[in-house]
Amino acid sequence: MTKKESILVTGGAGYIGSHTVLELAQQGYNPIVVDNLSNSSLESIRRIEELTDATIPFYELDVVHPESLHPIFYEQPIEGVIHFAAFKAVGESVEKPLAYYQNNLEGLFSLLQVMDQHDVSQFVFSSSCTVYGDAEVVPIPETAPVSAVNPYGQTKLMSEIILRDVAQSRSGWSITNLRYFNPVGAHPSGRIGEDPSGIPNNLMPYITQVAVGTRPFLRVFGDTYPTHDGTGVRDYIHVVDLAKGHVAALEYQKAKPGVHTFNLGTGKGSSVLDVVKAFERATGKSIPYEIVEARPGDVAEAYADTSKASTILHWSAEFGLDEMCRDAWNWQSKNPHGYEDARSV
Ligand code: NAD
Ligand code: UD1
Repeated sequence: MTKKESILVTGGAGYIGSHTVLELAQQGYNPIVVDNLSNSSLESIRRIEELTDATIPFYELDVVHPESLHPIFYEQPIEGVIHFAAFKAVGESVEKPLAYYQNNLEGLFSLLQVMDQHDVSQFVFSSSCTVYGDAEVVPIPETAPVSAVNPYGQTKLMSEIILRDVAQSRSGWSITNLRYFNPVGAHPSGRIGEDPSGIPNNLMPYITQVAVGTRPFLRVFGDTYPTHDGTGVRDYIHVVDLAKGHVAALEYQKAKPGVHTFNLGTGKGSSVLDVVKAFERATGKSIPYEIVEARPGDVAEAYADTSKASTILHWSAEFGLDEMCRDAWNWQSKNPHGYEDARSV
């Protein structure tokens, strides 16, 4: 396969970043990873190299420091950047707003400044469906009003505004905001996956930890929402589909200067109990659960209108909920303590 461009992937050792690095390598790109390993392990990169036979240049550094980024742009023929590096825990962002604003916004500034100086103007940004707040209409189109109810969400909204202004500042910038819905699952090999530290906040990693015996039961947050079974409805998307969406965005924006925004979801809403049933069906494991109080700040339902990504990027999710559960479980059962296990072999 002929080598395509060199793409700098910030946060490339993390959950979505690692799957995207793998996808880029498999599609002939030359991914270069920058990560400070604040929420990840270098083991993910080692495993991507093992899966692809590629050598992935890796730089352990903090993106908030432009002086650390400059040398990479001299050393590597970087033609585009996919920016994943950020803090992402909503609850923690309420407790530590300054840390979130600093890391997520200064990281963006620093990267854009260095890109500008080196004349690199292809940029793909990890945004989130959190920017829709409590949307009035589902499925949610990209034109829906945006708002943020916590500092994490604010950093995504502010970043999109900054990126819009940067794209308008001179012609040549091609910037894509990808608003992810709920990424779950893992690469089907079971070699890379989500490795949350501490007690997971999100549904799928919590379920897999119940299945593996780390947690006794799932707490279902509320069953009186106006949804088909009363539990919260979300648009779960397989992380491999999400990774492919990044490559589709890179390819599309190359010939399309300006700023673009796409939802990345499946367009299908699944309730908490739908996910529990799909997981039990796909894995044969039983998931005990208890209904508890609704989690403050949760919305009843959120799922994407995916028609824009499908028409313009020619990208649609291929995996369904059963495959998401199968692959989440495959990863968790092969790596009960995530990448920690690799250190003891
Ligand atoms: P993750 O924590 O697994 O990955 C983020 C990576 O960035 C980690 O490897 C971390 O070590 C690194 N990092 C953080 N700050 C850094 C810094 N200053 N310098 C260098 N590296 C740094 O998270 P993820 O789930 O892979 O999310 C990736 C991106 O997608 C984030 O921007 C997140 O906000 C966004 N996003 C995630 C979700 C989700 O549910 N996982 C949903 C919507 C958007
Ligand atoms: C989370 C983030 C949000 C981000 C989104 C997409 C929080 C508070 N919000 O929201 O910013 O944009 O992911 O990645 O983290 N649930 C349970 N029990 C659990 C965990 C979750 O019942 O132990 C329910 C929730 O109430 C919700 C659904 O499962 O209805 C999904 O929850 P979660 O995985 O945390 O995702 P979001 O709430 O969509």
